[in-house]
Amino acid sequence: MTTSRLPYQDPRLPTAERVRDLLERMTLSEKLGQLNQVRADQAGVALVRTQAKAGLVGSRILASTAFAGNEAQLVAELEENNTVQRIACDESRLGIPILNGRDVIHGYRTIFPIPLGQAASFDPELVEQAAKHAAAEASAHGVHWTFAPMLDIARDPRWGRIIEGCGEDAYLTSALGAAMVRGFQGVDPSEPGRVLACAKHFLAYGTSEGGRDYASGECSDHTLRNVYLEPFRAAVRAGCATVMSAFHNINGEPVSGSHYLLTRVLKDELGFQGFVISDWAAVTEMIVHGAAENDADAAVKALTAGVDMEMVTGTFVAHLEAALANGQIDAARLDDAVARVLRAKFQKGLFERPYLDTTRATSSLLSPAARATARTLATRSLVLLKNQDSLLPLAKEGRRIAVLGPLASAQGELMGSWVFDGVASDVTSIVDALGESAPKLKFSTAPLMLDAQVQAAQRADVAIVVLGESPLRTGEANNIADLSLPRDQEVLLEALYRTGTPIVAVIAAGRPLPIGSVLERAQAVLYAWHPGTEGGRAIADVLFGDACPSGKLPVTLARSLGQVPIFYNHKNGGRAVNGYYPFFAPTHHGIRPYLDELATPLFPFGFGLSYTRFGYSDISIDRSEIARDERVKVSALLTNHGERSGAEVVQCYVRDYVGSVTRPVRELKGFRRVELGPAESARVEFELGPDELAFWNNSGKREVEPGRFGVWIGGSAYAELGTEFQVR
Ligand code: BGC
Repeated sequence: MTTSRLPYQDPRLPTAERVRDLLERMTLSEKLGQLNQVRADQAGVALVRTQAKAGLVGSRILASTAFAGNEAQLVAELEENNTVQRIACDESRLGIPILNGRDVIHGYRTIFPIPLGQAASFDPELVEQAAKHAAAEASAHGVHWTFAPMLDIARDPRWGRIIEGCGEDAYLTSALGAAMVRGFQGVDPSEPGRVLACAKHFLAYGTSEGGRDYASGECSDHTLRNVYLEPFRAAVRAGCATVMSAFHNINGEPVSGSHYLLTRVLKDELGFQGFVISDWAAVTEMIVHGAAENDADAAVKALTAGVDMEMVTGTFVAHLEAALANGQIDAARLDDAVARVLRAKFQKGLFERPYLDTTRATSSLLSPAARATARTLATRSLVLLKNQDSLLPLAKEGRRIAVLGPLASAQGELMGSWVFDGVASDVTSIVDALGESAPKLKFSTAPLMLDAQVQAAQRADVAIVVLGESPLRTGEANNIADLSLPRDQEVLLEALYRTGTPIVAVIAAGRPLPIGSVLERAQAVLYAWHPGTEGGRAIADVLFGDACPSGKLPVTLARSLGQVPIFYNHKNGGRAVNGYYPFFAPTHHGIRPYLDELATPLFPFGFGLSYTRFGYSDISIDRSEIARDERVKVSALLTNHGERSGAEVVQCYVRDYVGSVTRPVRELKGFRRVELGPAESARVEFELGPDELAFWNNSGKREVEPGRFGVWIGGSAYAELGTEFQVR
């Protein structure tokens, strides 16, 4: 217990000085305690209190299972948080507060669309706003630190964790990931209502073989850096306080034991100043990987590689004292890890405000502003894929509408996976939301028996059929081998189609599903992801035209599993057989990638329709040649040719035709959401410079290479309006 104020307790001193002062006062055991994250579940309460008193708890994870994203979690126990904190602050020798972490992935109580859905909005401001609301709700419940954003690029929809990221593109993921970091942390994370962020899962977790979560991955350094590392570079630049080292084994090393990835790439090259937390049990799993003999060996390898804090397995506190005495770990590395953790605690203002004001907790939940953001974000995440004969938007009177399918009345399912604190009864189901929105219309539903559903469709003028996935087949450890819709839904859809009643299909799913059969049978198709607390209302807003759809696919929609992996920014290849772009080089001598499948996807990256019609024309470029460190401005005229207002996500793609290493056929390098009234036009401009044009080449640097560049502006990765420039 301390009485008079010591230098590290003085908020007027610079953080570096406070860290230095505190570090000098710490015993070895106290230092190791700071690197220890313990579970806060009930079984461990007594133990945690004893450990906190001895200064052995650096952090508590307010969660209780390894399969956290899919199982109900204990609520963050508000009083218990304060009790343990009091022990740490008042009864431990140095009074170092504990940092409480929890997974707040896409909302706390107010649930926003799954991150993959948020990505479809292409709207960093709104995504930032959502993270800000999530941080406010979570911090009012004692959470200091969230394990988000998840920045893993995913190219395989079998992988259940594709829901947690922003899709297949590094540029979009970087922009939205940085927005989430800003939303969680603000300019100053010590401000009330903010939490520290954690960029995860470093690195290339999405490469798991066959889409099997936790499986090993192989990835060249070239792709590792140009694709998977980019979002982490952006998060570090945005000041993200922490990074999580992944579970998996990549290129022959478990990441949590990889000095190359954690120290050389992340800390030295990217200049990351925060701390690295290992994922749940990732340190001891190195034994299972066959990369460590036992707990002691795993602890030595993880710390030496660059892990600063160990999640839940306690091997650092148990073994590193002996390891230091034996010369197996470096004292300076240990101090560096402790300093990084302390810096984050000072950054969060924990020494000044360690306790939670429990009276604020309830009133901070589900505020009208948070709900409004959730509704707008969900609305903007909806992707209209088909709208034959302008069936949508539906009129609010004069028709009988049947609302069918397994998710028509769903509430909890609309929230998606990785929701600990959301409550199903907060969610307005799609059928209820439609009723709220169009009180004059007559809606019918039916039990989920084929005959009942068919009869309801027969008696209606339009059938809205809500299909898709249960969150139980998405998220951590929930992969699927067959991407088709569950068979009963295919049967239902076929039966409804045979009634002849026009079908509007709404797909609520956690991944891009190859929905060819739905496209054939439904006149209109709206891809809704798992849209969150306000998702039902957002869907009603779009179906009735109170909002105009503007979402765009953040991931390619394959025709079939056999095409996977399929992504827009592939390499050309020597015989151009990839064929994603139907209008690029025709296939060589008629060679096609498959005998039994087309080359093109169902829908390309960036695709999404509107209720109005947008056109692109008149591309212009301010200079035809630039030096490597200069910038070029490219613009195009966007025109709303339709009769109603709408928003278009204008996208800018670049191709570096010849490089010292091969470059993708196209890469997204800019996007902007533009709203236009009927017959309005706007010139939309993008600036391209070193940041957009550089890439990691074999010299080990991220640089711009001279040569010819193509640039296109349009509404998807198929943008056709293009021009060129030279870099000299
Ligand atoms: C997941 C992480 C998560 C952690 C803590 C792990 O199983 O991979 O994403 O942050 O658990 O709940």
